[in-house]
Amino acid sequence: MSEGTPRQSPRSASAKHFLSDKVEHFTESVIRERTRQAMLYGAVNLAQGFPDFAAPAEIKQAAQQAVAADVNQYAITWGAKNLRNAIARQMGVWQGISVDPEKDITVCCGSTEAMISTLLAVCNAGDEVVIFEPFYENYGPDSVLSGAKPKFVKLHPPTDAGGEWTFDEKELRQAFDRHTKAVILNTPNNPTGKVFTRAELELIRDLCVEFYVLALTDEIYEHILYDGTEHISMASLEGMRDRTVTINGMSKTYSVTGWRVGWAVAPEKITNAIRKVHDFLTVGAPAPLQEAGAAALSLAPEYYTKLAEGYRRRRDRLVPALAAAGFHCFQPRGAYYVMTDISGFGFADDIAFTRHLVKEIGVAAVPGSSFYRDPRDGARQVRFAFCKKPETLDEAARRLAKLHPRQG
Ligand SMILES: Cc1ncc(COP(=O)(O)O)c(C=O)c1O
Repeated sequence: MSEGTPRQSPRSASAKHFLSDKVEHFTESVIRERTRQAMLYGAVNLAQGFPDFAAPAEIKQAAQQAVAADVNQYAITWGAKNLRNAIARQMGVWQGISVDPEKDITVCCGSTEAMISTLLAVCNAGDEVVIFEPFYENYGPDSVLSGAKPKFVKLHPPTDAGGEWTFDEKELRQAFDRHTKAVILNTPNNPTGKVFTRAELELIRDLCVEFYVLALTDEIYEHILYDGTEHISMASLEGMRDRTVTINGMSKTYSVTGWRVGWAVAPEKITNAIRKVHDFLTVGAPAPLQEAGAAALSLAPEYYTKLAEGYRRRRDRLVPALAAAGFHCFQPRGAYYVMTDISGFGFADDIAFTRHLVKEIGVAAVPGSSFYRDPRDGARQVRFAFCKKPETLDEAARRLAKLHPRQG
C-alpha cells in the first residue's frame, strides 16, 4: 500500500494528454444530437433518418423465430451463411453482379461499420480519400480515424426548378492524384437526393482506373427511387468489379435502423482485409437478426415497388408543405431526405434557423453546415427527413405553417 500523494508523472499534465489527436479533428454527430434536442423540446423529428412506422411483419417474425430457435450465439464472424447467400443472390438479381458468398462478403454491424472497417482495411497514413460534398456526415470522421485525409469535391445544387445536383468534371479530376486511395460515392445520395447517372459513374470509373483508385460505394438507399430514376451499382460497370467495395444494409430498405446489420461486398483480397478489421472491432453482427436478414432479402419483388411508392407519397406530402412555408426545395430523386434553401427566412445562418425551428416551431431538422467541411458552404441549407408516418408529416406541416421570415 502506498502512503501519501503518489509521485506525479513528469509527462504532460494537459487535459488533452489522455486523448487521441484523431478525435480533435471531428465533432459529435450533429444529426444524432438533433434527435436528442427533438426529444427535449417535444419537436417533430425530421432530423434523423429513421422511420417512425412499423417494420414488415414477416421479418419481425423471422427475428422472433430465430431468437426462439436459439440462434443466440456468435454468428460466423464475416456473416451468417444464409444471409451471405441471400446477399449474393440479390446482387445478381438486382445489378447483375456475380458475388461469391464465401469469399466476397463481410456482414457488419450496419453499413456504418462496413464503411469504417473498409477504410481501416485499405488506408495508410497519408492516403487521400475523395468525398463528394455535401456528404453523409460519417465519411469525414471515418477517413480521419483510418489515418486518411479527406479531399472534398462539390456537388452543385440545381439552378433551375426540376434540375439536378451536378459535379464539375474538372474539379473531380483535380481531386485525384498519386496519393488518392479511394473515392466514396453515395447513390442514391444523402443529403441531396441525387441519383448518380450512368454517364457520371462512368466518368468516376475512368478516373479510378487511370489513378488506380478504389470506389467505396454506399448504396443503402438503393431501392428508394422516384421519377423513373435507376440505381446503378458502380461494381456493375466494366472494369470496376475488382476495384469496388459495395456497401449496403438492412436499415433503410427494411425499416430496421436499430438492428445494425449491414455488409461490404468486395473482391476476395480486400474482403480478407475487411474481415480482419471487422473481427477485431465487433466480432460479428447480431446473429438472430442476420437470420431475419436472410428472410428480408427473400421478400417478393412487390415489396420494393411498394417501398419506393410509399416514400414517393411521403416526399410529395412534405415538399409542397415546405415550399408553402417559404423553403426553396431541391427535389430529391432518391433516398428519403429533402435539402432546402432557407435564404428567404432572413436568419443569420442554418444553426440559428434550426435552433428557432426546434425550440419555437417544434420541428427538428439538420443544419446544412453539418454536410460540408466549411460550415459557410451549408449556412443557407437545411435538411428534412420524410421517412415518417403521414400524420407525423402533417403535424410537421401544421407547425411549419407558423414560420415567418425575420425582419432586418
Ligand atoms: C448514406 C448513409 N449511409 C449509411 C447510413 C447508416 O446506415 P446503417 O444503419 O446501416 O449503419 C446512413 C444513415 O442515415 C446513411 O444515410
